[in-house]
Amino acid sequence: MQSTLQDYSFFHTAIIMDGNGRWATQRGLPRGEGHREGAKAVRRVVEAAPGLGVSVLTLYAFSSDNWRRPEGEVKQLMSLLYEFFQNEKENCIANGVRLSVIGRRDRLSLVLRSAISAAENATRWGGALHLRIAVDYSSRDSILRAISLSERRDLTREDFSGLLGKANNLDDRAPDVDLLIRTGGEQRLSDYLLWESAYAELFFTQRMWPDFDKSDLEEAMSAFHHRERRFGAAPAQAAR
Ligand code: IPE
Ligand code: IPE
Ligand code: MG
Repeated sequence: MQSTLQDYSFFHTAIIMDGNGRWATQRGLPRGEGHREGAKAVRRVVEAAPGLGVSVLTLYAFSSDNWRRPEGEVKQLMSLLYEFFQNEKENCIANGVRLSVIGRRDRLSLVLRSAISAAENATRWGGALHLRIAVDYSSRDSILRAISLSERRDLTREDFSGLLGKANNLDDRAPDVDLLIRTGGEQRLSDYLLWESAYAELFFTQRMWPDFDKSDLEEAMSAFHHRERRFGAAPAQAAR
């Protein structure tokens, strides 16, 4: 589809990567196998994203509420994250991908924290794609942290986006989401990028995350290009 190949200087796609557990259960496998396959889908999507016009990609990998899962599952997710940051560093450098992590760091293990910092430092000059992974992330908590960073009461939206970036350990401001995708068939936000998604176009798909590939991302991008974003204006005004 032609429109998906358009070159945008800024386009933010965020994905709630859901359905790993169900993918595995449907195949009679332990849930962990779904998470393992899910990591492969991450690689596919990161590879495809820049060619489809995505410049910022924010992936929900572990929510602050996911600590409520059984200890074994949490451990496995943490070790997959560790592997990801260790192993993908070189790939990211080679492909011009800048890697960042948003969310809390203080509850992560020391080894995971250092793998994250090492990957962030090594990839900081990447200009083809900004890949942001949300780990121990809660949008409501990051909004609260941003508020506590401010001493002022007269904040503009721009100011607040800046504080929200800081609250998530980033130098950049929190970028507005253009397209928010959720796989796995659920239609909810699960505490993800609430402020940033104020005018995001939403795309829900039944596809389980481990099955998600380039053609699914293409379909979502194409759906986006058929939407009319109005930002509160009347249709005719927006078209002008
Ligand atoms: C998404 O898949 C991965 C994480 C939340 C860490 P799930 O593990 O939530 O898979 P389902 O929703 O149970 O199928
Ligand atoms: C959201 O999925 C978090 C991630 C994809 C990392 P969940 O599976 O945790 O969300 P709920 O519990 O179904 O809302
Ligand atoms: Mg889920």
